[in-house]
Amino acid sequence: MEFMKIQHVSIAGAGNLAWHLALAFRECGITIREVTNRNRIAGKELADRVNARFVDSPSNLDPAADMILIAVSDNAIHEVASSIRNAGNTLLVHTSGSTGIEVLREASSNTGVFYPLQTFRKGTYVAFRNVPVCVEAINRQDEESLLDLGRMLSDTVMRINSEDRKMLHLAAVFASNFPNYMYSIAEEILKTNDLPFSLLGSLIRQTAAGAEGGDVFTRQTGPAIREDKNILETHLQLLKNHPDYQRIYNLISQSIIQHKEKDVKL
Ligand SMILES: NC(=O)c1ccc[n+]([C@@H]2O[C@H](COP(=O)([O-])OP(=O)(O)OC[C@H]3O[C@@H](n4cnc5c(N)ncnc54)[C@H](OP(=O)(O)O)[C@@H]3O)[C@@H](O)[C@H]2O)c1
Repeated sequence: MEFMKIQHVSIAGAGNLAWHLALAFRECGITIREVTNRNRIAGKELADRVNARFVDSPSNLDPAADMILIAVSDNAIHEVASSIRNAGNTLLVHTSGSTGIEVLREASSNTGVFYPLQTFRKGTYVAFRNVPVCVEAINRQDEESLLDLGRMLSDTVMRINSEDRKMLHLAAVFASNFPNYMYSIAEEILKTNDLPFSLLGSLIRQTAAGAEGGDVFTRQTGPAIREDKNILETHLQLLKNHPDYQRIYNLISQSIIQHKEKDVKL
């Protein structure tokens, strides 16, 4: 199928993902024409870094780019897209896991989503070839263009519609954001007791590596799966000064026990 090869991109946003995508696009030989951002300093910094022109408002972006990438906070996507003037047929694309493609409907007749499934922070290296990229577009040609763009960056590129992408993002919150918060609680417990967090390194790596193989609940260990009431009580007692952590501990332990009973009944 004939499709437009995306070679000239403008970007709205200069946050974590905008940085990573702008640099990754550049590395593939794509020109970043313009960058706009609410905070001028961050916007200019990114524009300078990728040799692009900084424009002070989305309404001043030149719609002649092959694609305008909107990499702003989810609750600002609609507002930023609406303020891009004369978008007309320009391919407008957002990068959110949990926002539907329809948020861009009023802004252009050609819209899409380019969602890289990874956690991005400025200044942290990400091997983009290993990052799955999920794309969606309103029309087939744009979808082919986004698939092609994705393949320039990554070895894993998939079409995923808005409903499935929301479920994927939900799963990603459980697989990454929640465990990270658990690590931070573990770190606090160890720090408070003058123990090094590095002691948990091997355990964390082993758990994550094991989970990659799938069938994850069968790998569950610990006092909850053993229904060891004495240890569960001791741990809750040790958390007596942290009622919020006590609630988390109890909720997750009960969920593990219920899940185990459900598995046994199957
Ligand atoms: N980071 C990730 O790991 C990741 C991964 C996949 C997808 N995403 C998606 O990528 C998008 C951007 O996420 P991010 O992590 O890069 O966010 P971020 O680092 O928090 O940056 C947010 C960006 O949005 C801009 N912004 C926020 N509110 C705005 C408003 N009311 N009007 C105009 N601009 C506004 C910010 O501008 P200022 O600089 O002026 O504050 C900044 O450029 C989101 O849709 C997110 O779901 C992120």
